[in-house]
Amino acid sequence: MHVLSVSSLKGGVGKTTVALGLASAALNKGLNTLVIDLDPQCDATSGLAAPSDQGFSVAEVLQSPKLQNLRRAIVPSAWHRDSKMDVLVGSPRSLLLDNPAPSVSDVWKLEEVLASIEDEYDLVIIDTPPSINALTRTAWVASDRVILVTEPALYSVIAADRARKAIVEISAKLSPRLQLFGVVVNRLRTQSHEHEYRLKELRDMFGDQLLMPYFEERAAVQQSTGAARPIHSWPAEGASEIAKGFDWLLAGALSELSSTPVRKARAGVVDRSIRGQSITEMVEVEEVPSSRRAEKKRRWFSFRKSS
Ligand SMILES: Nc1ncnc2c1ncn2[C@@H]1O[C@H](COP(=O)(O)OP(=O)(O)OP(=O)(O)O)[C@@H](O)[C@H]1O
Ligand SMILES: [Mg+2]
Repeated sequence: MHVLSVSSLKGGVGKTTVALGLASAALNKGLNTLVIDLDPQCDATSGLAAPSDQGFSVAEVLQSPKLQNLRRAIVPSAWHRDSKMDVLVGSPRSLLLDNPAPSVSDVWKLEEVLASIEDEYDLVIIDTPPSINALTRTAWVASDRVILVTEPALYSVIAADRARKAIVEISAKLSPRLQLFGVVVNRLRTQSHEHEYRLKELRDMFGDQLLMPYFEERAAVQQSTGAARPIHSWPAEGASEIAKGFDWLLAGALSELSSTPVRKARAGVVDRSIRGQSITEMVEVEEVPSSRRAEKKRRWFSFRKSS
């Protein structure tokens, strides 16, 4: 079982869209897949037309990470075919767990409970909320790889850079298995000068880790999500090109993951001495310094004036 988180510290850039696009590609490939909806907005749960929260959700699993709670909170989605497409359903209750200063044992809970269903899925995709609090860190500690999603726009680019630094720190101090797989560009408008400029900035910043293809803005994406259908089976124009993009992205991730040792049951791996420690004491997320923020703002405005 390989675990892939889809994240961004900025809202609305397309995390859920990419998570569902990858799930659609995994379904097409016949992989047994579990989607974990860690976002209290529960968009991935809705997008997969999974039965809504019946009292057991990811919130209860994180509060009490027992196998029986996990089994109650996992349901088959409406996408289910010959291979499994299950959902660990999201809940607004998980918002109460999104502590900005979680302890090490808090962020380890999902990893520990997932170890008990290790052999049941080929792939786990985690959709995360747009913040660096407990829920996102919990997802990252349980993951082999993170895909960051960004729009080619100023604040999204800054957020991607912050997220990369946070992943490097969590990997170094807490979960060595964790690595950034790369950055997906979403909602690209090829006619936009601003997007072209930000794309160049992203290339300079991330080099090879800027993943191909770039996903353009397409009505078919919103339509298939609205209808809770996989993009691979959406009949509208533009859908098959986007679906191929997700096939490509998934193939790249799986090829890299196959060179990673399969996860081992990790319960008890956390050193007892650090279990109660606050994670923010160990892993500081770098704020964008105000001078750099001002510099970015200045460049943006001068770009706008000259374009
Ligand atoms: N490539 C695209 N083309 C057109 N619309 C898109 C594209 N990607 C995402 N969208 C639309 O943008 C909106 C936001 O996308 P999405 O919900 O995936 O973002 P998110 O990062 O998960 O948001 P949040 O931070 O609220 O969880 C949705 O309406 C989605 O359908
Ligand atoms: Mg989302």
